[in-house]
Amino acid sequence: MKNDQKSLKENYQLKTRRSMSKGVNVPSHDSVIRVMMMKSGVCTRLASLAPFSLKRQHCNLPLLSLNKSRKLCSHSYKNDQTNVNCYLPPWFSIAPMMDWTDNHYRTLARMITKHAWLYTEMVVAETIVHQKDNLDRFLAFPPEQHPIVLQLGGSNLDNLAKAAKLANAYGYDEINLNCGCPSGKVAGHGCFGVRLMLNPKFVGDAMSAIGANCDAPVSVKCRIGVDDHDSYGELCDFIYTIASQSPTRHFVIHARKALLNGISPAKNRTVPPLKYEYYFGLLRDFPDLQFTMNGGITSIDEVNAARRQGAYGVMVGRAAYNNPWPTLAYVDSSVYGAPGTSISRRQVLEQFQVYSDSVLGQYGPNKPSIRQLVKPLLHLFHSEPGNGLWKRKADAAFHRCETMKSFLEKTLDAIPDSVLDSTPDTNSCCSEDTFADIYGFLPPPYKFREQELLCV
Ligand SMILES: Cc1cc2nc3c(=O)[nH]c(=O)nc-3n(C[C@H](O)[C@H](O)[C@H](O)COP(=O)(O)O)c2cc1C
Repeated sequence: MKNDQKSLKENYQLKTRRSMSKGVNVPSHDSVIRVMMMKSGVCTRLASLAPFSLKRQHCNLPLLSLNKSRKLCSHSYKNDQTNVNCYLPPWFSIAPMMDWTDNHYRTLARMITKHAWLYTEMVVAETIVHQKDNLDRFLAFPPEQHPIVLQLGGSNLDNLAKAAKLANAYGYDEINLNCGCPSGKVAGHGCFGVRLMLNPKFVGDAMSAIGANCDAPVSVKCRIGVDDHDSYGELCDFIYTIASQSPTRHFVIHARKALLNGISPAKNRTVPPLKYEYYFGLLRDFPDLQFTMNGGITSIDEVNAARRQGAYGVMVGRAAYNNPWPTLAYVDSSVYGAPGTSISRRQVLEQFQVYSDSVLGQYGPNKPSIRQLVKPLLHLFHSEPGNGLWKRKADAAFHRCETMKSFLEKTLDAIPDSVLDSTPDTNSCCSEDTFADIYGFLPPPYKFREQELLCV
């Protein structure tokens, strides 16, 4: 898969160079201003609205009253330390991933990065509504996990509204609607997941219903298209309709379309090509909105390369799960400019042991089980000496150990001390410039069709 993504990126850079040599799509004045603004620091939602009024010629979004915004600090890291109720912006976030980004993984991730935004797995609205006497199991999280976003799935307005209301008590920092999942299990259930992209007006209504029932800002996570509905104009119509009908001001864009022809969800994350140029086109055409870029990003160098070109935020999924140490240990220092984490993996495991042994069996026998708690740890030593042996030992230890303490005692001798005790090298520097030529490759600017879109 890595090779697959690498070659996609290489093709992409090659293609970009070709279009540059033909002299197409030179960056617009506005996009240059935007990049400079982004580079200059703070960009809260409200701040992003003000300076761009000159850009209303691009896309005239109605000015909704913006009474909800994320609790963001100014750019200064110092402020973040003195005000526990606000967070640095979502410049880096860890993607929602079913069966992966559960409470245990998020706890581990938070031990490695203090500033990354965490997303829950998708929770189906009906689950929340039907389990309303058992909500902690689905919605509770330790306070250290802030800033954290709840992702909802669903297509029933009433249930989405009720779910948002019930979830509101848990104090999530944002509520996100899944409009990107092509899984048969989800997509087969009528208009749900990525199929919602075919009905932007419904999504606008859903986002209004969610927004009206919670205190947190709301956001949408989507693909860049579905099957043949994959033009840049259709993506813009989708964004425009939702942003103009609901309080949604933040979109997470998985920069590949979804194919609903029966290919597996995993293939749907590798087969359709990545089109980052659509993402950067949205930055240019909707300057009043915030867009997080997602799909195929595998290193912090790439995250920073995207941000240097104006990306507001970058969301990383598989790399953050399959190779958490190099992906997450540099987020605070390299993306946020905060003091780097000086924690070692031995210290992370010590903290994780205390957490695990305190929650084992919390919801009944084996709920959670030692296997569930160990699962997120299994990639902590990816590509390191001793990793193979540690995994074999872990496989045997699942069956015999009843606590995380004994699991670690029986397995950790497979990993050399030099690996366990090393801390992230904060001097590591970025040379990657994957997106350097992106503004030579943008789709033509969006010509929005307000009357047609809003009067249907
Ligand atoms: C195991 C797995 C489960 C996923 N579950 C969800 C989900 O529940 N909701 C969602 O919006 N995306 C889901 N995704 C998609 C990711 O959020 C992300 O968009 C995708 O993996 C592309 O990002 P990446 O290339 O950085 O992994 C899932 C991905 C994986 C690998």
